Order: sequence, then structure tokens, then C-alpha cells
Amino acid sequence: MVRMAPTYAQTFADATSDPAAFWLDAAASIDWDTEPVIGLDESRAPIYAWYPDGVLNVCHNALDRHVTAGRGASTALIYDSAVLGIQETYSYAELLEKVARFAGVLLERGIGLGDRVLIYLPMIPQAHIAMLACARIGAVHSVVFGGFAAKELAARIDDATPSAIITASGGIEPSRRVEYLPAVNEAIEMAGHQVPTVIVTHRDGFNHQRSEYGGGDTTWYDWDDLALHAAPAQAVPVPSTHPLYILYTSGTTGSPKGVVRDSGGYAVAMDYSMRKVYDVGPGSTMLTASDVGWVVGHSYIVYGPLIAGATTVLYEGKPVGTPDASAFWRLIEEHKVDTFFTAPTALRAIRKADPDAELLAGRDISSLKNFFVAGERLDPDTYTWAGEKLGVPVVDNWWQTETGWPIASNCMGLQILELKAGSPTVPVPGYDVRILDGFGDEVAANEEGNIAIKLPLPPGTLATLWGNDQRFIETYLDQFPGYYTTGDSGFMDEDGYLFVMGRTDDVINVSGHRLSTGAMEQVLGSHQAVAECAVIGVADALKGQRPSGYVVLKTGARITEEELGRELVALVRAHIGPVADFREVRVVQALPKTRSGKILRKTMRQIADGKAYVVPSTIEDPQVIDELIPFLAPPK
Ligand code: COA
Ligand code: AMP
Repeated sequence: MVRMAPTYAQTFADATSDPAAFWLDAAASIDWDTEPVIGLDESRAPIYAWYPDGVLNVCHNALDRHVTAGRGASTALIYDSAVLGIQETYSYAELLEKVARFAGVLLERGIGLGDRVLIYLPMIPQAHIAMLACARIGAVHSVVFGGFAAKELAARIDDATPSAIITASGGIEPSRRVEYLPAVNEAIEMAGHQVPTVIVTHRDGFNHQRSEYGGGDTTWYDWDDLALHAAPAQAVPVPSTHPLYILYTSGTTGSPKGVVRDSGGYAVAMDYSMRKVYDVGPGSTMLTASDVGWVVGHSYIVYGPLIAGATTVLYEGKPVGTPDASAFWRLIEEHKVDTFFTAPTALRAIRKADPDAELLAGRDISSLKNFFVAGERLDPDTYTWAGEKLGVPVVDNWWQTETGWPIASNCMGLQILELKAGSPTVPVPGYDVRILDGFGDEVAANEEGNIAIKLPLPPGTLATLWGNDQRFIETYLDQFPGYYTTGDSGFMDEDGYLFVMGRTDDVINVSGHRLSTGAMEQVLGSHQAVAECAVIGVADALKGQRPSGYVVLKTGARITEEELGRELVALVRAHIGPVADFREVRVVQALPKTRSGKILRKTMRQIADGKAYVVPSTIEDPQVIDELIPFLAPPK
């Protein structure tokens, strides 16, 4: 009898009806030092733990087991730097050797199980090596995106209290070199927590050297010096619930949230999603054009493809400008990429530069099987354009730093469903997605509401917020008991397709980068001329959204709008970083507020986006809105 592969609907039903059994079954694809017998620990609900009795090492699953299986010569990592014009290839055996040696370096510096290590690296192979080396010895890494400034770095140092920082001389942006060492030094000086060790990987062409720093209680080392003599370290078995990493993400307030990822659940989720969502396995080549500092980078530049035994391409460059809008097509051709993953904004940038995709002509992209996008809404125009030009499925997947892997997608390795423009298709097995109204009741098909996920969340999703179970519960679990609140709003159509429409909070999405308007407001509010302010995300044809600031001056403040704008833009750049992409400031007479003093940011955003808007009856002074309208249509 021929056994039919289970369909999407059957698999989804199985995962929903008995999650513990479903995920225990999926766990069999992972190497365990102690196989779990228990799928799910519900004793601390609403905080759940997957595979509480399992013991494993994630680095072993990403590297050693493939080498042991005789695949040591297969390519694990291709580093392609468009900004330097170089390429390097690492086999699984070579990458394992480098990771084991750097893990030895960490051990020799006294870093071990449970210690935190902050990683501030550009898109270079050392990022993979440092992350996997931490995983190898059970140290908990926290990668910080290179576009963040010293102050953001300092906030993460104080929250994660790392034993070491691993960094590089700098990163290379098309227009400039970004010196990392002054930022790291400034962050260390700013932070209350004392970082004992900094390890620097040297890159040519930067002004600052690690030898300039030192003194105090921090010792700065050179990566290569330490690696020369270090003994390779073995993978340390850790409990499944042991934290693999902390990844900070923006919330509504200025203080970032440290999403904690466990080890066992994440390894299973990576293995499962690689196979079922992305259809990637040994022999596949996946290129995810994002950054290791974001969740997409953690999951699908580093852990996912390696756990799957595939080849991952680490691309240091941009979709356009390095050197032109054919960069992605070159990468696909040269590395025979079958699975490409990026943010819609990258496609929009390419389309803007080369509307007819003329640069595709002459490029052989026949290896390409699927083109995935995530990070922000895929607008139907871009979806249609990419599908026509590339001739392969363009697959939108919706998820968040918190979940670590897709909540909704077309599951290309399970059953390919018909795509609908504007929808990331259907909930992935394990995610019981519901649309709730403000009272927590489910709404009808096609009716917009809060997108929530019925607990428990599947393996690999956030275990808690670092050192703060209470904030975890209050932020995500309290609003609708029994559900995880995603912070996104949207609807499900009559076929069960999900449509994600936007955030319900003050988080914005600029070029696929998640940013907090609250954090920007905090910076604007610190300027001596500013009495109060609001930052909203307004629609932007290229970047999805862009932050736009509105400030009310203190009585008697003597500064022009232009001057203040320049100072505030510089301030946000210095405090948050260039990645905030904050460039617009308008001085206004007043901000619209409710009688209880809440600024009506949503109404402001709707007006700025030219959408229909309703002025809440709770508004303090309706005239403020009328006066604001001319300012709410910022240039562009
Ligand atoms: N380190 C330091 N600075 C960085 C940086 C990094 N890793 N990444 C971006 N920046 C800086 C840029 O240099 C720029 O600085 P500038 O103001 O001095 O010019 C600023 O941050 C904004 O950069 P960016 O968001 O990249 O905008 P852009 O206009 O330069 O480029 C795109 C537009 C669409 C090409 C670019 O945003 C892009 O590649 N997006 C893809 C996003 C992505 O992969 N997101 C991941 C989520 S899946
Ligand atoms: P991040 O945590 O940085 O990955 O950002 C997560 C947020 O980005 C989500 O909560 C959504 O608001 C948005 N997002 C990510 N992917 C998508 C998508 N495919 N469609 C719509 N919004 C998305």
C-alpha cells in the first residue's frame, strides 16, 4: 500500500489536537544526548517549556552530526562580500574546526555554561563562528545589529550582563566604513555592568585598533592571537530548556525586550521549518539576505540551514548599490542558490532601480526554486512583479523575533497551496491562530481584529523575556488569557488564509527593521527645546514605513524648525543608531490628545497616510486635529 504524505490540513489538525505528541515525534529528527520522553511541561502555565527532560547541544546538531554522518566535505558556508569583492567557502569539517577552536578560546577566557556573550559583528564568517562557539559550550549569545549606536549597546550590556563582547574593527556600508571599536568602548564606559573581556577580529581599512583601548577592568584581545593556541572544545550537552540566545527587540517603551530562545525547542523548530516551510535539506543552498543581528539572520542565515545540513550563503552587501540592482541575481547564479529569502523592501529597492528587471537578462537563475520574503507586509504590486520576473513562487511568511520561525506561510515542503496576493497564506502547523476582538472573542471570517495564538506556542518560540517572567506575561499573555498576543492586527478569510494588516502598538517597521517610536520619542523629549513630541510611522513607498516626528516647543524656546530638525536627527542617530532612519521633524502648536492625555498617534498616522480616520469622542480639543492636518502630509 502506498502511504500518502500528510496534507497541510491533516498536519495542522494533528499539531493542534495533541501538540505534545506531535512535537515529540518531530524531535526524533534531532540528535539528543538524552532523548526527551515528555513533550511539554505545562506546570508553570502560561509559561510553557518544551522537552523538559531532553539534553542536547545545538552546535553539535548544526555541525558535528553532519561531519560524523560523512558529510564533512560538503559546503556549510559561503561568504560572499560584495563590499570587499571576496568569496570564501567553508566545508562542514572546516567550520567545525574553527568553531571548536573559538569555543576553546572562550573557555580559556573563563567563559562557560550560562555566561552571556554579546556579539557585535558585521556580516562576516566570524559571526557564525562566534554564535556556534557559544552554543557549543552552553554560553548564551546576544547578537546586536551593527546599525545600533553605543547607547543601545550599553542598554543590552546592562540587561544581559555579558562576560565578554565579541566584535570586529567595523562594518562596511556602501557609503562609509562604520568603526565598531569606538562604539563598543563608549558602550562599555556608559554601562553600569563591567565587561571583563572584549575579543576583536581585525579587518583591514579601519582607523581604530583594539590596542587603543584597554585600561580599567576590561581587557581587549585579538581573536587571531587567542585562536592560535587555543585547544578545540567539545560540545557540552545542555538541558533542552537551557537558553541558547537572547535577542533584543523593540517594544512600545524605550527599553528593549530580551527574547529568550531555548535550545531543544529551537533545534526542533529549525529542523521542522527548514523541511516543511522552506523545503530545504542536504544539497540545498539557501541565501538569506538579512543580517545576523535580526531574528531572520539567527534562524535562516545561521542555525536553520546548518541544522538542516544545507549550504548557507552569508552575503555582505545590499540589494542595490553593491554594485547595482543585479546583486541578488549574481548571487543566485554564482552560488546556485535554490532558496532565497529577503525582505519585501529589498525587492522594492531593486524594482525602483531596475523596473523591468533588465539586469536579469544574461543571468542564469535556473537553480532558483523558491523566493521567500518576510519582515513586513508584502504588497500585492511587489508580489506580482517579483513572481513575473523570477518565474518561481514568491512566498510571503509572517513571523516575529518572539516566535523565531514562521507563524504563517505556504508550507512548501508539506503541501503547496494556492497563493493569494497580500496574504502569507495559512498558519503553520503548531500555530493555532485566532482573530479576537477587544474582548477576546473570536470574530467572523474577513473581520479585522487582534491576531492572537492559542497557547501553548510551538517549540522554538520565546521561552520568556530575559530575567523578567513578569514582563513576558504582562506584554504577551495577559491581554487575552490563554492566548499569546502578537501585536499585529489582521483577518482570516473564509478559506482560512491570514491577512496581516499592521501593528496595534507603537512599533514601526522601516525597511523590514522593527523599531520603537517610543524609544525615538524618548530621545526627542530629551532635547531642551522640546516640550512634548510624537513619532509615528507613515507609509513609505520604498521602506514600508518611515518615522516622522512632531514636536511642540517649550515656551520661549528659540530655535528654528530647521535647526531643531538637524539636532534631533543627529540625536536619534547618536542614541539609537543610523538604522532608525529618522529624518523628518515638524514643529507644531499642539498634539491631539484624549482627555486622559493619551496622544492620538493612530489618528495622526491615518491622516498622514491619507486614510479614512475617525476622531475619537474622547478627544480633548478637536481643533488641534484641524490645525495639524497640513503638517501631517510630510514631503515625499
Ligand atoms: N551597520 C551600520 N549602519 C547601518 C547598517 C549596519 N549593519 N545597516 C544600515 N545602516 C545604516 C545605513 O548606512 C544608513 O545610514 P545613512 O543614514 O548614513 O545612510 C541607515 O542605516 C539606513 O539604512 P537602510 O535601512 O539600509 O536604508 P538605505 O536607504 O541605505 O537602503 C534598502 C535601503 C532597502 C536597500 C535597505 O534598507 C535594505 O537592504 N533593506 C533590506 C532589509 C532587511 O534585510 N531587513 C531584515 C529583516 S528580514
Ligand atoms: P521582527 O520581530 O523584527 O521580525 O518584526 C515582526 C513584525 O514585523 C511583525 O509583528 C509584523 O508586524 C511585521 N511582519 C513581519 N513579517 C511580516 C509579513 N510577512 N507580513 C506582514 N507583517 C510582517
